[in-house]
Amino acid sequence: MRIAQEQGKILSNLEVAPNIFLLNLGLPQVAETAQPGQFVHLRIGPLPDPLLRRPFSIHRTKPEEAEVSILYQVVGGGTKLLSQKRRGERLDCLGPLGRGFAIPKRAGRFILVAGGIGIAPLIFLAETLLRKEKRKKMEVVFLIGAASAEYILPESELLCWGVAVQVATDDGSKGHRGPVTDLLTRQVDRSVESCHIFACGPEGMLKEVAQIAGQQKIPCQICLEQRMACGVGACLGCVVKTRSGYRRVCVDGPVFPAGEVIFE
Ligand SMILES: Cc1cc2nc3c(=O)[nH]c(=O)nc-3n(C[C@H](O)[C@H](O)[C@H](O)COP(=O)(O)OP(=O)(O)OC[C@H]3O[C@@H](n4cnc5c(N)ncnc54)[C@H](O)[C@@H]3O)c2cc1C
Ligand code: FES
Repeated sequence: MRIAQEQGKILSNLEVAPNIFLLNLGLPQVAETAQPGQFVHLRIGPLPDPLLRRPFSIHRTKPEEAEVSILYQVVGGGTKLLSQKRRGERLDCLGPLGRGFAIPKRAGRFILVAGGIGIAPLIFLAETLLRKEKRKKMEVVFLIGAASAEYILPESELLCWGVAVQVATDDGSKGHRGPVTDLLTRQVDRSVESCHIFACGPEGMLKEVAQIAGQQKIPCQICLEQRMACGVGACLGCVVKTRSGYRRVCVDGPVFPAGEVIFE
């Protein structure tokens, strides 16, 4: 896999929900080669602060326009600084990094489970599945969990080309009241035939998704968002415990078979 270092030009950086921003960058090489589940490592400010790059999933690509989108939530100093960047500024970007989702060869029922900002890589995945899929017998179900309705992206940001979208919120302000894994349980109770689960979100949610998939013997891939330093396999700062020993999330993942990961 070719990793590029590019000076991405900011095309737009807009708040699309409270503290959630959509950043569009001109990144020709990343746009050309990125796969869903891979990430970019952005240098947000001049050294020394923040010292480390920050990793973000690739949310969408438009190769024909040399564009890459990142969907991010402001949680600390780095993302705050990122939210203040304006159109025309440039960001040093390494990518695409990591191993993304393995796209199943056969059509089936693909259930995508997003918790909070974990929706970011799953939109790219859904678009890729649908693009590859002129396959007839395919169903994509998108289960989205968030704290409340205001954190659910506007419909224009969600893809709705025949995708069944279901929403769960912690406070019940939109869709099902409760965790998104309740929706997953309902889906797998309906049928597990040709199912494949893909998930990204907080660790507690991923643990539960892995349990549900394991009990029903459904193939499941999860995208981990461990804290990272180098992002290229050198520092061991991002290791996760798996059935085959410690693995580096930045190069061996961030996507892993759910049954591989040992949650603490
Ligand atoms: C492969 C990968 C893909 C990611 N994709 C996205 C994405 O698409 N959109 C997005 O908004 N974020 C994503 N993240 C998380 C993002 O990298 C962090 O939110 C960001 O680095 C925080 O930087 P900061 O300087 O704002 O926060 P910091 O000041 O570094 O931290 C602020 C707070 O956030 C917590 N925090 C920081 N990083 C993480 C993390 N990785 N997991 C859990 N808690 C964390 C810290 O413990 C602290 O409490 C991804 C992370 C990885 C590893
Ligand atoms: S972040 Fe350095 S090895 Fe993964």
